[in-house]
Amino acid sequence: MKTIKVKDIKDYLGEEIRLEGWVRNYRKSGSKLRFIIFRDGSGDIQSVCSKSEMGEEKFEKSKKVSIESSVIITGIPGKHPKKENVYELQVTDIEIVGDSPDYPISKKEHGTDFLMKNRHLWIRSRKQWATLRIRHTVYYAITDFLNSQDFIRFDSPILTPSACEGTTTLFEVPYFDLGSAYLSQSGQLYLETGAMSLGKVYDFGPVFRAEKSKTRKHLTEFWMMDAEMAYVNHEGNMKLQEDMVRFVIRTVLEKCSTELEILGRDIEQLKKADAEFKCMTHHEVVDYLRGKGSEINYDEDLSSADEALLTEGSDVPIFIEKWPKDIKAFYMKRDENDDNIVLGSDLIAPEGFGEIIGGSERETDYDVMLERMNKENMDINEYQWYLDLRKYGSVVHSGFGVGLERLTSWMAGAKHVRECIPYARMIYRIHP
Ligand code: 4AD
Ligand code: MG
Repeated sequence: MKTIKVKDIKDYLGEEIRLEGWVRNYRKSGSKLRFIIFRDGSGDIQSVCSKSEMGEEKFEKSKKVSIESSVIITGIPGKHPKKENVYELQVTDIEIVGDSPDYPISKKEHGTDFLMKNRHLWIRSRKQWATLRIRHTVYYAITDFLNSQDFIRFDSPILTPSACEGTTTLFEVPYFDLGSAYLSQSGQLYLETGAMSLGKVYDFGPVFRAEKSKTRKHLTEFWMMDAEMAYVNHEGNMKLQEDMVRFVIRTVLEKCSTELEILGRDIEQLKKADAEFKCMTHHEVVDYLRGKGSEINYDEDLSSADEALLTEGSDVPIFIEKWPKDIKAFYMKRDENDDNIVLGSDLIAPEGFGEIIGGSERETDYDVMLERMNKENMDINEYQWYLDLRKYGSVVHSGFGVGLERLTSWMAGAKHVRECIPYARMIYRIHP
C-alpha cells in the first residue's frame, strides 16, 4: 500500500492508501460513526470512521483519538458527497502513534499571550499553518524573481564590527579579544562591495534590531532580503522593486489560494495591487497628510497612522521618494538639485500594512560620504573598507531591503508580524 500526502489525494481516488499525520479535530455522530479531521502538514482531509465498514475492533481504536494525537490511517479516498473539489477518506484502519491528552489549544478563543507562550503548538493551527506557508511562498517568489534577473546570492555576515542603520538599535555581543561585535541590522554595506564584484547581488537572512517599539510591525529579529545593483540609479531601483513586489503578489495568488481562503484574505484587494504603483515625494506626502488632518512636519518620518492615512483609498503601494537628508541614513545619495534631499524611497503597502521596503541610490563621492560620516560621529577607521568603494572605481549604484515578515503580513492579511515568523522575538518576548 502506498503512503501518500493529503495534497496528492485526488490522484488516488478509489485506491486504498496510507497517511501519516495528526488529528486536528474529531466529532462523533451516534455510536457508529466518527469524523476525524486529519492533517499531515500538506493539507487536511475529513476522514470517516464507520463501524459497519471497519468492523467492531478497528472502530474501537478510532474512538481513542484526541485532538493532536498522532495517527497513521489507511483508507480509500473519494469525492465529498456535497462539496466540489473536496475529498474525504473512508477509513479502513487507524493506528494511534502518540497520545495527546488535554491538548491546551482548543476551538475557544485564547488570548494572544497564551497563544504566543504556546507558539510551539499554536503553529499547528490552521491559520498559522496557512500564514507560514505564505511566508514560504513569498520567500521563494523573491529569490525566483532575483534569479530570473541574474542576481547572485552574496551572503553578508551577521557578526559585524559596526552599524549599518544607526547605533540606537544595535545588539552588542562580546567578541573574544577583539572587544565587541554587533548583530547585523542589514547586509547592505557588504552588499555594496559585492555589487562592485558581481554586478547584481542579494542576501536573505535574519537581521537584528534592538527596537524599543512595541508595535505590531516591529520584531527584534526579522528576515531581510537586501539587493544591490551597480550602474542602477534611483529610478531603476524603484522599477525593480515594483516588478519584484508585483511578481510576489501574482505568485501568492497563484500558489496559495487554499491558504488565503483559510485566512479569509480579501484576494480582490491583492489582485488590484498588481497594477502600476504610485510615487510621491516626501514633501508631497506631507502636504497631502496635513490636508487630511495629520500633524506631521516636513522634517519628520511618517507615523504608522500617517502610513495608513496615505494609502487609504489606494489599491496599490505608494513609493515615498526624495527624503530630507537629516531623517535618512548616511549612505543615501544627495539630490543634485537640492542638497538637503536624498534619493531614498520607502514603499508603503496598502490596507494599513505599512512600510515593506526601504531603499536608495547610494552616495558615490568619497568626500561627501566622509563628511556625512563625520557629521554622524561614525568611527571612520571601522568604515575604511566601505569608503574604499568610493575610491576604487566608484559607480552609480542602488539597492533596497525588504522585510519578509512585513511583506508576508500584507499578503496574508495578518494584523501583526509576530504571526508571520515561526518564533517572533520582541522586546518582551524570547520564549519559546
Ligand atoms: O528601511 P530599513 O531600515 O532599510 C535598511 O535596513 C536598508 N539598509 C536596506 C537596504 O537598502 N538594503 O529596513 C528595510 C525593511 C523595512 O522596509 C521593513 O520592511 C523591514 O525591513 N523592517 C522590519 N521588519 C520587522 N521588524 C523591524 N523591526 C523592522 N525594521 C525594518
Ligand atoms: Mg525604513
